[in-house]
Amino acid sequence: MIKEQNSNKMWGGRFEDKPSDIMEQINASISFDKRMWRQDIRGSIAHATMLSNQGIITKDEAVEIVNGLNKIAEEIKSGNFEFKASLEDIHMNIESRLRELIGEVAGKLHTARSRNDQVATDFRMWTRGACDELIHLIEELQGALGALSQKHKDDIMSGFTHLQAAQPITLAMHLDAYSQMLERDKNRFIDCRKRLNECPLGSAALAGTPYPIDRKFTAEKLDFDKPMSNTLDGVSARDFATEFLFCAAQTGLHLSRLAEEIIIWATPQFSFIQLSDSWSTGSSIMPQKKNPDAAELVRGKTGRLNGNLIQMMTIMKGLPLAYNKDLQEDKEPVFDSFDSISLCLQAMKGMLETATFNTASMLESAEMGYTTATALADWLVMNLGLPFRDAHHVTGAIVKMAEDKGCKLDELNLADMQAINSNITTEIFAVLSVRA
Ligand code: ARG
Repeated sequence: MIKEQNSNKMWGGRFEDKPSDIMEQINASISFDKRMWRQDIRGSIAHATMLSNQGIITKDEAVEIVNGLNKIAEEIKSGNFEFKASLEDIHMNIESRLRELIGEVAGKLHTARSRNDQVATDFRMWTRGACDELIHLIEELQGALGALSQKHKDDIMSGFTHLQAAQPITLAMHLDAYSQMLERDKNRFIDCRKRLNECPLGSAALAGTPYPIDRKFTAEKLDFDKPMSNTLDGVSARDFATEFLFCAAQTGLHLSRLAEEIIIWATPQFSFIQLSDSWSTGSSIMPQKKNPDAAELVRGKTGRLNGNLIQMMTIMKGLPLAYNKDLQEDKEPVFDSFDSISLCLQAMKGMLETATFNTASMLESAEMGYTTATALADWLVMNLGLPFRDAHHVTGAIVKMAEDKGCKLDELNLADMQAINSNITTEIFAVLSVRA
């Protein structure tokens, strides 16, 4: 029987005094790491089962522990669990409740384990689930982009360089470019998930444990590919978190480019796109306005996505082996990036699916700005054998002439063009319209 004491019940054996209030505040992570309760309970059930399989605790003890943990899961799910900052984190909150429910035998759960390998295991499982969810959300957005591309496969718009009308393209081509970016983002999450899927459990505090544990069993039970091979690395590696944060930041960067285009396209000046009422907001003073707030927020979330990555990298810089409490700072950036990028992916899908593309303005944009000039130059190369530089020069003169006359390239007459290069034939008109 452990004697009643003033200090922390879970680790306070050698302590006489309670932590000060501020110490308790800076030390506690329960406000955010309670998000990992499912992973913590699952990890503990696997650990307890392994302990009993190995004869380290008895079968009956394991049954009591597992039943208690399942009961706690029910309590948390139904909102009947009291999380306490005095118990620091999710691990100790659950273990303490287990003791209340099943008594002293609860103390055996932590045999051959430390919170260091426990938290690393929970966090890897949580991040793995986050990868799966984001992979799914990316695919959903790709689905929406794909459907739009299909619908607009023949709708012509100007493609841009320097945000200046450059060459005619289709809307489908433009949208597909984002689908390709997202494909790489998805593959990065798949890759991140693959690399993180090794189990730290059994590393204990840092040096492993003298009990005859079965790390392969717990790794398999928790759907990891294998146990991590170095126990110091097991408890202190967080490159999986950094990598996850990069994957999220990169996805956010891609979405911010699309968001920026939606914002520009939704201006009356461009009017390429009209957002539905459910995906825009009004102004409290200017009644005519319809603002693309969701797109602006997707663009703005890049700030925190990038910040979270830098935050994590800064926490890790120069951190000596093995576990240090600095590592408790690893979770909030990961949770925040997950929440943010999930929202962005869903908002982008919703905005696009309900938007109306103004294909007439898009076509008009392609007809402004001599977007077929490059095609004209290529025609001169392919049909008259001009070196490209000369063709470029001739085309420049033709564009200038159209500009002076205030007409489009396909509205010039053959004689005018022949005045610049006498070998030009009527076939040239085949490439001068944007549809061609
Ligand atoms: N809440 C802690 C964390 O997130 C758990 C590990 C605590 N380990 C320790 N040695 N104090 O990192």
